[in-house]
Amino acid sequence: MRLSTSALAPILLVACSSPRPPAALFDSRVPYEPLVDKLKASGGRADLILRPGRLVDLERLDSGKHYKFVVRPDGVLAIAPIPVDQPNDYVHPILGDGGPVRTAGTLEIDRAGGAISRVVVDQNSKAYCPPASSLAAALDAIVALGVRGDQIRVQNRPPVCADAEPAPEAAPRYGAVMAEVGIRFERMGRAMKAGRLDLAEFERGEIEEIFTEDLPRAEPPRESAGVNLLGVVQAFASTNLPELKKAIESRQEAAFVRAYQNAAVTCNGCHRASGHGFVEIPTEPGQAVPRLDPVPARPR
Ligand code: HEC
Repeated sequence: MRLSTSALAPILLVACSSPRPPAALFDSRVPYEPLVDKLKASGGRADLILRPGRLVDLERLDSGKHYKFVVRPDGVLAIAPIPVDQPNDYVHPILGDGGPVRTAGTLEIDRAGGAISRVVVDQNSKAYCPPASSLAAALDAIVALGVRGDQIRVQNRPPVCADAEPAPEAAPRYGAVMAEVGIRFERMGRAMKAGRLDLAEFERGEIEEIFTEDLPRAEPPRESAGVNLLGVVQAFASTNLPELKKAIESRQEAAFVRAYQNAAVTCNGCHRASGHGFVEIPTEPGQAVPRLDPVPARPR
């Protein structure tokens, strides 16, 4: 079936006269006040923000440089006075006065013999995180200044969006954390035997960090269900680690050997309780952790 022109005309008329839907607005995802403080601290001034009203205002921008811009709710363009390749604090929420915007991103002007030959816009704003489709608002604002539509290019550069709430860090894996404990425990023992006290204390401190920060939030392995791992971790941190510290500080090898042995007993106790008895920690400093020496032959 073919539609005659006369049949189409009324439909087109209706489509053209229907008002455009109100432009979607995007809120900033980052707090505004700290940005204002930063701008002030670096000597920036809100009154330097460009709000081009005519083509000549746009022509003041450096050719080939990217400038941050927003289109405010009233359709007005606001452009940073300094391009992004020079460190500056004219960030998107500053350009938008902390309020919502129709779109945000960066804008680049190319010149051929003085006159603007091309304007490129993208939606790369972490703070507002607008979709590419919102750039229609930028096109409208730039065309309103007198740039021809065919001189404007839209570049799709999806931003790495700022999250309103940072994603919680993934829990570390118990085995990976334990592997580090093993390396450091072995090194602490060997360092002490070699008289390298500072290194021994450094490794002990790292183990303390692991026991107080990483292990409490590490994901326990399945086999350890029903074992109070956290209780043992805390006991190790509050008794064995201070004992090792004192022994290292005392510079007495005998004291260190005793503290090391007590610690290894705790390590092994937890390994057995959690179904990992085969991870044997030697009770004497200077040996490989875990034990890798040949299993002694069993009497028949
Ligand atoms: C709170 C209980 C607990 C304590 C205390 C403990 N471990 Fe472990 N360790 C485990 C568990 C559970 C695993 C098995 C982890 C897994 O399978 O993901 C393990 C595994 C290991 C491994 C093998 C890691 C690998 O993947 O190769 C080493 C090495 C190790 N522990 C060293 C030590 C040392 C050294 C100490 C004492 C300083 C210690 N552990 C204290 C529970 C403990």
